[in-house]
Amino acid sequence: MADLILGQTLSFAGDPFEEGPGVARHERRGAVLIAEGRIAAVGSADALTAAHPDAAVTDLGAALILPGFVDAHMHYPQTAMIASWGKRLIDWLNTYTFAEEMRLADPAYAAEIAERTLDLALDHGTTTLGSFCTVHAHSADAIFSAAEGRSMAVVAGKTCMDRNTPEGLRDTAQSAYDDSAALIARWHGRGRARYAVTPRFAPTSTPEQLEALGALWAENPTCAMQTHLSEQVDEVAWVRELYPEARDYLDTYEARGLIGPGALFGHAIHLEPRERDRLRESGSALIHCPTSNTFIGSGLFDTARAKTEGQRVGLATDTGGGSSFSMLRTMAAAYEVGQLTGTALHPAHLLWLATEGSARTLRMENEVGTLATGTAADLVALDLGSTPAIAQRAARAEDIWEAVFPTIMMGDDRAVAGVWVAGRRLRGG
Ligand code: GUN
Ligand code: ZN
Repeated sequence: MADLILGQTLSFAGDPFEEGPGVARHERRGAVLIAEGRIAAVGSADALTAAHPDAAVTDLGAALILPGFVDAHMHYPQTAMIASWGKRLIDWLNTYTFAEEMRLADPAYAAEIAERTLDLALDHGTTTLGSFCTVHAHSADAIFSAAEGRSMAVVAGKTCMDRNTPEGLRDTAQSAYDDSAALIARWHGRGRARYAVTPRFAPTSTPEQLEALGALWAENPTCAMQTHLSEQVDEVAWVRELYPEARDYLDTYEARGLIGPGALFGHAIHLEPRERDRLRESGSALIHCPTSNTFIGSGLFDTARAKTEGQRVGLATDTGGGSSFSMLRTMAAAYEVGQLTGTALHPAHLLWLATEGSARTLRMENEVGTLATGTAADLVALDLGSTPAIAQRAARAEDIWEAVFPTIMMGDDRAVAGVWVAGRRLRGG
């Protein structure tokens, strides 16, 4: 039987960075029809109620129904050490991150953290995420199993590192290839699971390991490829020492086949002109992680510049370098960083980045991140007056953008009135 959800609806008929906020489609009294886990129709509440008299109706009043949020870059193994104080990237990795990732050597702990992470994601309205795992192959099994149990579309991969990490967190070029290949065979395309070939970043991989993973990706081109690029100035200098023959940081990946459509580069802040050109020409994606970039002190990613020059851009929490599980908080940070780089991003830009923009970077826009008919019914409904401070501001709104912006800037999991994954309601109600 079909389900009909009534509320305000908002979707995009194009990229608002290219076509302006007017490309948004807002229905004040709208409806989403769900059948067999997919979006069967989107339209006015009156029309869809009349056309589907037998559908089970859930009336959410003035709540705003959006595609579920898509977090394009996070580290589920870092969930338990989010908000660790006082370090910059390399010290932060050595002090907090590697110690915690070591604990996931225990498969039971990895499973516990995977379950906890997806529960927190759903609490915050995130229905799809792209996650790093740890070096342990079973850590990838853990997140894919947890996602399968919730019917969630998750992109993930075993993190590969064969140098500059503690002994217990090291693989080899060969074992990284073999373990990743076995995980691809086990998970890629099973239900909603998608695999990402995952070298952590150039400093923790030998050239031989990057070479092996480049070969693996070429053999499995429908997989994603996720890594980090030019996050902090000290890191860029370290890469120059480690790869003296490389033209720049990106070249450490490019020379080994690790750029192109489906490549996801976290951060990508401190880029040379040649790197910007190659990222654009190759169709690689830049993933903006604003709460992480301010929390770890990495720098300011200029979203408007990247979009204007034609880059693919997604938005992500980068938990636990990022300081929040919430894509609302992440949009707020993107807005603040936009102000510091000279552009006030419109709410349409922010919402598009957190849904369709991120979905495009994962090459999943035909499955998640929009309200298009035939895509998965992965939805979030936002209460636009979830706290007294937000409600009094929203009460003055004269259009949908004024109504939603206070929730973007001040909202948290209290704003999440409902979450649906593959048509099943998992939060609210
Ligand atoms: N660079 C390499 N690994 C990491 C990580 O876990 N988090 C962040 N923010 N940057 C990284
Ligand atoms: Zn990261």
